[in-house]
Amino acid sequence: MLVKKPPMGWNTWNTFGHDINEELIRSSADVFVEAGLRDAGYEYVVIDDCWSKKVRDPQTDRLVPEPEKFPSGMKALSDYIHAKGLKFGMYSCAGQRTCADYPGSFDHEFLDAKTFAEWGVDFLKYDFCYKPTSVDGPTLYRRMGMALRASGRDILFSACNWGSDNVWQWIRSTGAHMYRSTGDINDNPESYRSIARSQLDKLGASAPECFNDVDMLTVGMYGKGLVANGGCSDADYRSQFALWCMFSAPLMLGCDIRKMNEETLKLVTNRELIAIDQDEEARPPMWGHHPWSDKLLVLVKHLANGKYALGFFNMDEKDAEIPAILADYGLPASAGYDVRLHDVFGKEEDKTWREYVRVNVPAHDCRVYTMELVQR
Ligand code: GAL
Repeated sequence: MLVKKPPMGWNTWNTFGHDINEELIRSSADVFVEAGLRDAGYEYVVIDDCWSKKVRDPQTDRLVPEPEKFPSGMKALSDYIHAKGLKFGMYSCAGQRTCADYPGSFDHEFLDAKTFAEWGVDFLKYDFCYKPTSVDGPTLYRRMGMALRASGRDILFSACNWGSDNVWQWIRSTGAHMYRSTGDINDNPESYRSIARSQLDKLGASAPECFNDVDMLTVGMYGKGLVANGGCSDADYRSQFALWCMFSAPLMLGCDIRKMNEETLKLVTNRELIAIDQDEEARPPMWGHHPWSDKLLVLVKHLANGKYALGFFNMDEKDAEIPAILADYGLPASAGYDVRLHDVFGKEEDKTWREYVRVNVPAHDCRVYTMELVQR
């Protein structure tokens, strides 16, 4: 088994877009180690679109790194990343061209997979632009799924068709290890909220070896970078990160990790939240709404250690009191148990509740607890 837990790492796209080079990748890999990201579980350093020359090598037909951006070549970069105990990710596309108009892997799948393997690549994000209309989406992901397996190297296959063709129904069968289920995230509250809401009823298909990828995080971008369309507050970033963790989604950072402030670093290395994300059973959460507002969301997730994770999310513009009736999630009053809550953000004292839990959650913010049953 290659991918038992949701992959964790960093990807260049959200902040840097086409503005990438080997110095950025090296210095970001350094930060994984220096800032404690590696110790918290972050592993994959991923170069997204815009890394190659605009045309393939005329003699070999292979993809070639753009020498101005990557003068030392991809093997040297991958060696640098591996020497830090990290893994190296790259990007290609199932169509003729990538989304930013560089050569795609269509009809070159096996050659490209071999090239990536020779460069020491451990992770391939595989996009969906410029797809020939004569071939359907599932066929294209099947091809790269087989090509990666034939490449002679263990390479995590990260599919990115934005949820099209009901991807959750067939993607696992192609050998993919994670799959983008939505369009691109933007760094604003509406974007992460609508992404999260759209997947609540589809998380049952997300499981070890093939996880629902709700896109790279915008946590810590604060409105700066390529997908920064408005920016978010710290409360929003807490909510976004906690939602991704309750979903057992891949945690791919998208901010400039070299410039993270203390609040961002504390959030993305929160051990208790990460443990919820990385829980070995990767169960989807049960979910419910406040009785009269679908903007007030409750999530309850079974954990492998016999406890639960309990999340309250206020996706409204005003502060709110959010109740969770425990009977809705499997614990009726007749069961004879109370619940003991522990705040994963470390702000509140542990507290015991009977039949229901009710918490005040400021607008845009969340409250997340681990929950244990205690016999009355
Ligand atoms: C999009 C993809 C983004 C990014 C971009 C690169 O299709 O969803 O995450 O990879 O292409 O051009």
